[in-house]
Amino acid sequence: MKLSDRLQKVKPSSTMAMNSRVIELKASGRDVVGFAAGEPDFPTWDNVCEAAHQSIRNGEFKYTPVGGTSEMRHAITVKLARDNALDYSQAEVMASCGGKHTLYNAMQALLSDGDEVVIPGPYWVSYPDMVALSGGVPRVLPASEKNGFLLSAAELEAALTPATRMVILNSPSNPTGACYDEAGLRELGAVLERHDCVVLCDDVYEFVRYDGGRPPHLLTMFPSLRERTVVANSVSKTYAMTGWRVGYCAAPANVIKAMLTLQGQMTSNPSSIAQAAAVEALTGPQSALAPMIEEFGRRRSYVCERFNAIDGLSVSPPGGAFYVFVNARDAFQRADVDNGDDFALAMLDGASVGVVGGNDFGSSDHFRVSYATSMEQLSKGLDAIENWLGGL
Ligand SMILES: Cc1ncc(COP(=O)(O)O)c(C=O)c1O
Repeated sequence: MKLSDRLQKVKPSSTMAMNSRVIELKASGRDVVGFAAGEPDFPTWDNVCEAAHQSIRNGEFKYTPVGGTSEMRHAITVKLARDNALDYSQAEVMASCGGKHTLYNAMQALLSDGDEVVIPGPYWVSYPDMVALSGGVPRVLPASEKNGFLLSAAELEAALTPATRMVILNSPSNPTGACYDEAGLRELGAVLERHDCVVLCDDVYEFVRYDGGRPPHLLTMFPSLRERTVVANSVSKTYAMTGWRVGYCAAPANVIKAMLTLQGQMTSNPSSIAQAAAVEALTGPQSALAPMIEEFGRRRSYVCERFNAIDGLSVSPPGGAFYVFVNARDAFQRADVDNGDDFALAMLDGASVGVVGGNDFGSSDHFRVSYATSMEQLSKGLDAIENWLGGL
């Protein structure tokens, strides 16, 4: 059957493709270590699950308002005030079916054909495709590895033109883990303040960082940006709730209204039961968060040390998220490949370890490893990679 022209502009998400391949190999009996999945390996907290059970016991089985129940929207405003010192009303927030849906809605609502979107690279695989599906034109702005994959103000300034309609900021970043400190964010904010473009702040990893604190939110430092910023977030990573599919955002009321119109014609509300769970996650006790981040921190140190000890591979310790972006260029020749994707495939074959090649993240020198898995799996996978490469 002939598919729409629109589909010519996009490709399937490579993280999902690799993940499915690992699942397939495992199903065929092969002992594969999976470092591809971008989700915490922790269970959703008991109190959050209990809120979902309670919602079922309450018989909350009906459609809710498109952008979420009033409890859900209230919870979003409470979270933004508590964690980010941002003051939003219920008319300026909404929930969607995952952060991905939130970001897609925002792009559909704000981009017109030909609008340019500056995407700092390496970037999360879905951004360019979402931009293209929304009629926009992705303009990748590569950040250099030697600067920890962080952009300088001058680099951002040089990339912004009158044609720039939107800039995406994702700190901490998937796939590099790069995260801006207060000074870095302040520099970028000052540039953004001078250019009339939309800022799409993807905060999904905001709590997963290892510098012992979090800088003030960009909008707390630059309140003047509020009228042209969408703050996107999700319960997926912070609360180990990837499967529940609840994302949310804050934006000027007219943008939320437009996004609600879109969502109302596509999915309507996210699951009523998942919303009840998300309300508890956002407003209930937050004490289970710190131990999870501490554990990620322990794994991060271990993984960085191990990769940097393997001849041909190197990583710069990421500031946040739960990924390392491994530079494998010096090992390409030995593996008889010339890019990160083929390296990842060779590694899957040779070491039975599944990672995601860097091509679709905007770097063909790298592959991405998720360390959101047990120490035992990390150690097993790293031994296998070391042995495989050592034997080439
Ligand atoms: C940078 C980034 N933004 C957004 C998302 C979307 O997450 P979800 O749709 O699970 O909320 C992800 C998921 O991997 C991500 O890495």
